[in-house]
Amino acid sequence: MKIIILNVIVITFFMAACSPKNVTKMVDSSKPDPFIEQLISKMTLDEKLGQMTLYTTDWESTGPTIRGGYQDDIKTGRCGALFNSHTVDFTTRLQKIAVEETRLKIPLLFGYDVIHGYKTMFPIPMGEAASWDLQAIERSAYIMSKEAAASGLHWTFAPMVDISREPRWGRVMEGAGEDTYLGSRIAEARVRGIQGDGFGKSDRLLACVKHFAAYGAPIAGRDYNSVEISERVFRETYLPTYEAAIKAGAKTVMTSFNDYDGVPATGSKYLLTEILRNEWGFDGFVVTDYTSINEMVNHGVAKDQTDAGIMAVNAGVDMDMQSAAFQEKIKIGITDGRIKMEKIDASVRSILRLKKELGLFENPYKFSDKVRESNTIMTKEHLDASKDMAKKSVVLLKNTGVLPLAKKPMKIFVTGPLADDKNNLIGAWSASGEGRHCVSLYEGLRQHPASGNYTFEHVKGCEIEGTDKSQFNIVLEKARASDIIIVAIGEHKDLSGEAASKTMIRIPGVQEDLLKALKATGKPIITIIMNGRPLILNEVEMNSDAILEAWWLGTQAGTALADIVYGDYNPSGKLPMSFPRHEGQIPIYYNHKNTGRPLNPTDKYTTKYIDAPNTPLYSFGYGLSYTTFTYSTPMTNKSSFSDADQVTISVNVSNTGNFDGEEVVQLYIRDLVASVTRPVKELKAFKKLMIKKGETKKVEFVLSKNDFEFYDQKW
Ligand code: GLC
Repeated sequence: MKIIILNVIVITFFMAACSPKNVTKMVDSSKPDPFIEQLISKMTLDEKLGQMTLYTTDWESTGPTIRGGYQDDIKTGRCGALFNSHTVDFTTRLQKIAVEETRLKIPLLFGYDVIHGYKTMFPIPMGEAASWDLQAIERSAYIMSKEAAASGLHWTFAPMVDISREPRWGRVMEGAGEDTYLGSRIAEARVRGIQGDGFGKSDRLLACVKHFAAYGAPIAGRDYNSVEISERVFRETYLPTYEAAIKAGAKTVMTSFNDYDGVPATGSKYLLTEILRNEWGFDGFVVTDYTSINEMVNHGVAKDQTDAGIMAVNAGVDMDMQSAAFQEKIKIGITDGRIKMEKIDASVRSILRLKKELGLFENPYKFSDKVRESNTIMTKEHLDASKDMAKKSVVLLKNTGVLPLAKKPMKIFVTGPLADDKNNLIGAWSASGEGRHCVSLYEGLRQHPASGNYTFEHVKGCEIEGTDKSQFNIVLEKARASDIIIVAIGEHKDLSGEAASKTMIRIPGVQEDLLKALKATGKPIITIIMNGRPLILNEVEMNSDAILEAWWLGTQAGTALADIVYGDYNPSGKLPMSFPRHEGQIPIYYNHKNTGRPLNPTDKYTTKYIDAPNTPLYSFGYGLSYTTFTYSTPMTNKSSFSDADQVTISVNVSNTGNFDGEEVVQLYIRDLVASVTRPVKELKAFKKLMIKKGETKKVEFVLSKNDFEFYDQKW
C-alpha cells in the first residue's frame, strides 16, 4: 500500500512494480517494396556502402573533420547523403549530380542541424522547455521544419532528447532539462512538429532522435566523457525520452559519442538492436554521430577503422556520419564473413525506403522550389510565433514589485554587455539564423508602444568576459541619474553548446561586479539573464529587485522581453532544470532519493553539507508570476485503486492577484513504501492554463497504473 504525497494531493494506492520488459518482439519488417528490392538487386557493393555513407560539405563544420571533394563522392556513388548543405540553389546543384550523373540515379538525402529554428530563430530548446507549452513547442518545431524544407532540406538532426542533471555540460541548452516526464512530452511534441502526421510533405522534415543514449549523463559533466549509471537509472530516467520520440514516429536515430556500461553507443548491439529494434520496434535507420565509428578506436574497443566499422554494422548502425569507415574500410568484413550481406541490404533498404517515403524518387527536386523558399522564410507569421514562444519561455525568478514597470514617466538606464547585443540571441546550433535579424533588448524596449512613458539611456558597461571596468564610472553616473535600471548579463552563446563543458558555471568576467556597483546606487534593478545553462545566481539574487531568466530567446527576443517588462505579457515560465547554489552540489535535481538519514538541520548525522544547503537556489518547476495563485485541497475520486483502475485527482486553482496569468499546474507523486527506494517527488502530469484575475478553475488529472510503474529488484 502506498501513500502518495502529491504537489496537489495526498492519495493512497495499491501499486505493482514491474520487472524489466523481457520483450522479444522482433521488428515487424514491412512487406518488401518491389521498387526498392529491384533497385537493391542492381546495386554493387560499393553503391550499397555509398548509400550507407553521410558526408559533410565544406559549407560549415560541426565536428572535428571536414572533407572536400563531395561533388566527386556524389558522382562516384561514394555517398548517398550530405549534411551542412542547404538553400535551394546549393542542394539542387548537388542533387543534379546524383540523379543525372550516377549509374543508378539514386537521389541524395540532405540533412542539417535545425534545432531551434532555420532562419527564424526560436528560443533555445532549454528555453522552450521552460514554457511547458507543448502546443507552442510543436508549432516552433513545425515552423523551423517548414523553413528548412523550403530551403532544400529533407532531414534535421533533431529533436535532441538527452535528459541531463549536469549544468556543467554545455549541451543542456539543446535539451529539455532534468525531468523525464516533461522531456518525454516535449520529445513527442517536437517529433510531431518536425514530421507532421507522417512526413513526406514538402513542409516537413525527417526527424532524428539524438543522442542515443544517455549522452546527457557524462561523468563530471564533461562532454564526450563516459556514462556510468545503473541500468535502473538508465531505463527510468534516461531512456524514456528516446522511446517517446520513437513511439511518436521518429524515423531516424543518432548514436551518441559516449560509452554506456563499457560499450560505445555506436558499437552497442544492446542499445541499437536489443532495445531500439527488438524492444521498441524501431523500423527506421540509425545514423552515427560525427566520426563516432572511428572514435571506437580511441575508446579502445577496435584496433582500427575496419574493426570499428564492422562492429558498428553488426551492432545496428545503418549510416556512417563522416568516418568513411563504411565506404572505405569494411568490404573485407563482407568478404571474410564477419559481416553478412543481409545486414548491408537491410541498412540500404531502410535508407532507400525513407528516401522513397519522402517522395525523392518520384521528384528529387520536390524540396527545391525557389519561389516557395523566398515566400516561406521569416514571414510575419513565423516572427510572431517566435515572439510568442519567447514570451512563454521567460521565467520570473524574483520580483519585489518593480515589474511590470509602472506606467508613469521614468528615466530607464539600460546596461550590461547583453543589453544591446544581437549575435548571442540566436544561441548555439543556430542553423541559418543570423544575429542581425534579431531585435535586441534595448531596441525592443524603445520600439515598444508602451515606451512613450519613458526616456532611455544606455551604456554597455563591460564585456561578457574580461576584467575591463573602465566604463564603470560612466555607468554609475548614468545609473544615479535614472529612476530604474535594467541590466542584461550572462554568457555568450559559445559558452554553451557542444564541447563547452565548464567547471565554474558563474556569470563570467566583471558582470557581477557591475551589478554590485549598480546596487550601491540604491536604484531599483531589473536583471535579465541570458544564458544557455543553469548558472550560479547567488549574487544576482542578492543584488536585484527582479530577475528574468531569458535564455537565448531568438529573433524576437527584444520584442518579447519588452512585452514582459511593460506588463503586456505576464511571465509564465517554470524552470526545466535546477539552478545550484554552488558547483559542489552538482548533480542536483528535484527527484532525488530520501536516503536513510534525510536532512535534519539539528542532527549532525543526517545528509547535508557543512558549508552549504542541500537545496538549489531555484528548483525544477519554479517560476513566479505578476499575479498569485492559490490551490484548494486536492480531491481524488477514490482513496485506493488496483492495477486496472484509473484515479482522478482534481484541484481548484484561483487567481488571487491583479493580473490575468497562465499557471502550470504540476502533479507530483511520491511512493512512500516501495520494493526499491523511490524519489521524494516525481512529476507525472501538468497542465498550463490561463486563469483570469479573480477567476477559479478546476483542474483534473487522470492517472493509471503505468504512471506508477518502476523497475523492481528482480533484474
Ligand atoms: C555533432 C553533434 C550532433 C550533430 C552532428 C552533425 O558533433 O554531436 O548533435 O547533429 O555533429 O552536425
